[in-house]
Amino acid sequence: MRAWWLDAGEGARIDEETLRSEGIPARALPLDPEAHQPDLDALKAERGYIEQDVIALSPETPNLDALCAKFADEHHHDDDEVRFTLGGEGIFDIRSKDDRWMRVVVEPGDLIVVPAGRHHRFLLTEKKAIRCVRLFRDTAGWVPHYREAG
Ligand SMILES: [Fe+2]
Repeated sequence: MRAWWLDAGEGARIDEETLRSEGIPARALPLDPEAHQPDLDALKAERGYIEQDVIALSPETPNLDALCAKFADEHHHDDDEVRFTLGGEGIFDIRSKDDRWMRVVVEPGDLIVVPAGRHHRFLLTEKKAIRCVRLFRDTAGWVPHYREAG
């Protein structure tokens, strides 16, 4: 996982401790399902997630561009957005508590929780592919609430 302040450049790194202090749990887990499932189960118990599935985006995904456009505008959700990356990579831009952009690039083995109510956006990298585990309470919680212009 690589993270930095978007307004200060890639050299302005953000570590996991800073992300945690911003209310964003983020850490690395092993890719082997037998090794990471106990950690995911603990997170589910701790934060009340009851469902788990896997989502994949790739150039073969029908309507990929239209799908990505929905994630690319700044929004928040009523539920946490929990992603554990298994393959590919993606970019989460997440607002800090003082409304600056934190850019977080996730790669295989990276777990991140974007808390409910926190504005963010998601972008694919030039690889245009990611596969991740999602944890959630109810898919209804993912309805995006878009931030008003300005
Ligand atoms: Fe989202």
